[in-house]
Amino acid sequence: MVERLYRVVDEMKKNVVLVGFMGTGKSVVGRSLAATLGRPFIDMDELIESRAGKPIPRIFAEEGEPRFRGMERELTRELAGERGRVIAAGGGIVLDGRNIMEFSRSGLVVCLFASKEELLRRLAASTNRPLLANGSMEQKISGLLDERRHLYEAIPCSVDTSGLTIEEVADKILALLRENEGCAGAR
Ligand code: S3P
Repeated sequence: MVERLYRVVDEMKKNVVLVGFMGTGKSVVGRSLAATLGRPFIDMDELIESRAGKPIPRIFAEEGEPRFRGMERELTRELAGERGRVIAAGGGIVLDGRNIMEFSRSGLVVCLFASKEELLRRLAASTNRPLLANGSMEQKISGLLDERRHLYEAIPCSVDTSGLTIEEVADKILALLRENEGCAGAR
């Protein structure tokens, strides 16, 4: 009984890390989930921007994408050493398998999905995502999804957000956190 209580308390101290393609709702859902759990929320993109002193498009333009990926990598190491946080990662966090490995050791990693149509709708007005700038957004989204789909699909815990409200997605993640004994069939 006491052992089980300790296990439950320990489960609740895990980080919850939201990953997924741009526009799947990691930040809005993460903020809502953190408020419900009474935990600190960390948006990795925002933290990288505030530490770099410039927005992501300028980091890409002035320092290059590899430098941005290096910043993501350093921040992942730092955050994976902490506990009890709700973290929204950038969409490209899956590109380096070490990030997912380290975050998985620190808690529950949940991948958010949405249909391509929904992503297009949500991202249409986006101006701060350098990988979607200049040219056909539809083609860029399709190309990146083709390149990355296998990386997102390799994450055992996932939630399909299509047609769901922010609160409904947050509730599904809460259920995963409570029942997390492997995530087969969670999507
Ligand atoms: C990126 C996603 C962005 C941001 C950067 C690169 C990606 O984050 O980290 O523009 O490679 O998918 P969001 O997923 O929060 O938009």
